Amino acid sequence: MVPAEVRVDRAARLRGDLVLPGDKSVSHRALMFALLADGVSRITGAGDGADVRSTAGIVQALGAEVTRGSGTAGNVDYVVRSGGASGIREPADSLDCGNSGTTMRLFAGILAGLPVRAVLDGDASLRGRPMARVVEPLRAMGAEIDGDSGRPPLRISGSANLRAIDYATPTPSAQVKSAILLAGLAANGATRVRESVTTRDHTERMLLARGVLVRSHGTGMGGSVVELDGPAVVAAVDQTVPGDVSAAAFWLVAAAIHSNAELRLAGVGVNPSRRAVIDLLVRMGASIEERGADDDGAGEPLAELRAETSDLEATEISAAETVAAIDEIPVLCLAATQACGTTVIRGAGELRHKESDRIAGIVDGLSRLGAKITANGDDIVIDGPTELHGAPVDSLGDHRLALTFAIAGLIATGTTTIRGAASVAISYPTFFADLERIRS
Ligand code: S3P
Repeated sequence: MVPAEVRVDRAARLRGDLVLPGDKSVSHRALMFALLADGVSRITGAGDGADVRSTAGIVQALGAEVTRGSGTAGNVDYVVRSGGASGIREPADSLDCGNSGTTMRLFAGILAGLPVRAVLDGDASLRGRPMARVVEPLRAMGAEIDGDSGRPPLRISGSANLRAIDYATPTPSAQVKSAILLAGLAANGATRVRESVTTRDHTERMLLARGVLVRSHGTGMGGSVVELDGPAVVAAVDQTVPGDVSAAAFWLVAAAIHSNAELRLAGVGVNPSRRAVIDLLVRMGASIEERGADDDGAGEPLAELRAETSDLEATEISAAETVAAIDEIPVLCLAATQACGTTVIRGAGELRHKESDRIAGIVDGLSRLGAKITANGDDIVIDGPTELHGAPVDSLGDHRLALTFAIAGLIATGTTTIRGAASVAISYPTFFADLERIRS
């Protein structure tokens, strides 16, 4: 258990090998698709954070048998036995998505096409997050969803006769795209989602690996169109989950900004739609070596990453790049505090709707540590390099902010005290143990 408040002292040296939690986005989907498939699905190396546990709990509540195996390095292996979509049973209680937006939005898509009633609910943070973005297209497909405030809880009465739709998402979001595609599995005809900026494509790759013919093509302007024909059957497939590149990002930045660092990260997922953080850090001058690109056998490429002390230069991150690195923007802000020049991160407004208002949280926390960081509308502007000094900072209960401030603590003078540090268990429960192991 991570205590509520954690103190991180400046580190003299960072050295070692790290095994990351299984990718959170892939772990959620592997469990959900195992529920939809008739048969046995073995999932190896799923992330064991609270978000993925929320999804596993719902898969079980909907009637699948979920067995937790041992797993290694804070990960867990699951065996899921399911009777497929037609075997899903109406849950007796409301379904607890905890802190997880992906769990709520993707299950909304799944439940929309099932003839059951269910309530999706979550913690105080999730209850404050916008759901109209999934409710509107799912209603247009024929699902009945009570949630007029646009916030959870969502009361869903699914329909066995969903209509396929052709939908342009107003805000690029993999969660919204995925919710519509999952509803599309149960709808009659071709369901099409158009995005102005292409978001992570795990749903498309993983459905393809499970026998669903998902067609996608770029628009030539950075966007894409994704389409599938329903009704479609999802096959049971075994999957090894890649290491989470969003968790790797914390160590890539730690190595780049620390004056005596060399870290090796094994089996990191480098899916082109997720690797923007690696490419942005390299563009800023980070020394990151990528070895042995491989495939996990279920459509997700993997590589070993080696990162070391680097001289960073400021960069301008475009709005499309911000979408591609949406979960890594807080830690990229930290990298920018150590880069020479002015870094501008454009079009970051979506960060206000994550587990906390991440723009307010990162500007406040890094400023307390001495960084020159401001928000200008939806842009974030950081001048560097600045020496950081330890101070109390508040993660607002948001895992990505707590993880970012802990990495900052490794280079800040003195002690950095992180409030709400237990939130790291949402995506990276073994983080502080890993940190102690690689620091001296
Ligand atoms: C996710 C998509 C992103 C991301 C989230 C995981 C996913 O959210 O921030 O952590 O697994 O599809 P949006 O699609 O809302 O941007």
